Amino acid sequence: MVGSRAPVGPERPPASIARILAGRAVIGGRLQPVEVALGDDGSILSIGKVRRGAPRHDVGEAILLPAATDLHVHFREPGGSARVEDLASGTRQAILGGVALVGEMPNTVPPVDDVERLEEKARRIPGRAATDVLLYAGVGQPSALRRLAARAGAFKVFLSPTTGVDEPPAADVLPGLLRTLADLGLPVGVHAEDPMEFVADPSPRSPAEWNRARPVRAELAAVARLVPPPSGLRLHVAHVTSAAVVDRLRTAGVSFEATPHHLLLSDRSRPDAFGKVNPPLRDEGTRRALWEAFARGDIPILASDHAPHARAAKEQPFAEAPSGMPGTETMLPLLLARVRDGTLPLATLLQAACDRPARWLGRPHGRLAPGHRAHLLVVDFRRRVPISADRLHAPAGWSAFEGLPAIFPREVYFDGERVVQDGEYVGRPTGRVVRPEFAPGPGR
Ligand code: DOR
Ligand code: ZN
Repeated sequence: MVGSRAPVGPERPPASIARILAGRAVIGGRLQPVEVALGDDGSILSIGKVRRGAPRHDVGEAILLPAATDLHVHFREPGGSARVEDLASGTRQAILGGVALVGEMPNTVPPVDDVERLEEKARRIPGRAATDVLLYAGVGQPSALRRLAARAGAFKVFLSPTTGVDEPPAADVLPGLLRTLADLGLPVGVHAEDPMEFVADPSPRSPAEWNRARPVRAELAAVARLVPPPSGLRLHVAHVTSAAVVDRLRTAGVSFEATPHHLLLSDRSRPDAFGKVNPPLRDEGTRRALWEAFARGDIPILASDHAPHARAAKEQPFAEAPSGMPGTETMLPLLLARVRDGTLPLATLLQAACDRPARWLGRPHGRLAPGHRAHLLVVDFRRRVPISADRLHAPAGWSAFEGLPAIFPREVYFDGERVVQDGEYVGRPTGRVVRPEFAPGPGR
């Protein structure tokens, strides 16, 4: 064997073309006619003119887009009720909204904060998930972090109490925790609200009062505890609600996201607990400034913070109702409608919804490029509809975005297979548990 290398396994034959999609796509910043060759290995083989024969599907006037990545969802399994959400129903909504990879949060019952619980959750995914799923782990058990880092896709740190989280890490342990997470190398998402800045209100009655109880300054104070981050920490701040926080994080060079609800709804959009969420919806001026920052391209990532609750729970008096709203199915469609009405450049949306979140998670999702997963959307910009909970697929059965314009993908391809046709799921759930494959890149 001197001089030769033992084979490490059977050679994989090169992928061949399973299907060609022809249409227009944004390439190099311009809308151009293209042919996309989808491989039988579920990857994109080439973009351009394809000469070899394979079934060819021309999407006509529609546009080919990469599928989105939603790096912030709560699918409530284990411990939730399938009448509200589970991994099967959550991922089905995601794919119907054009999302092919989700980052699933650990604040379940019990929380995912050791390897056994993470593996138990991972076993629930094959055969049930319609999207790829990257699992976040919680940081509730410091002694479990090292083993978790070998199995999880990312970590999540909650700095304030919220659904399923009673005790955030104490102020004096946070710096050490962040240094440990920097060493472990995985992306780290943070819910950044500082409870020291909350204003005690025993009985808030509306989103506007909730906004006063958990003000923007609680976000600024939490961010001040995080920046500058220890060197090597792949820090990402979740659901930023104000331009002041945007400026602070851009200056610090930290990745962050905004949600469709903070971009499109204010604390006056809904009078009731269906508009209760953490961090709260803000006043109209704050919302508008956040939207302007997004439309300028100053907010690197769009994420839904999909957090459904039963309708009956939301119908309780405001103070008792839980915080959170569903949103993964409507995230991209709401923003595609803004592209169509001319208030958001398509390239800005594709960066925020597709390319940067996948890079942030170290995944080859999110671009029309050879070697990327063949998760694609066919979008007909002429088909604009008002959001109506009746036509959505959330078991919880309500949407805070009722009536807002949206453009849903007409078709969705997952690993090169058509799984959504005319807005209905026609596929088999073949989503996988995935982890970062390359060093997560800056979400900027
Ligand atoms: O409003 C929220 N709901 N904010 C969170 O941070 C958690 C989420 C949930 O899980 O319900
Ligand atoms: Zn969340």
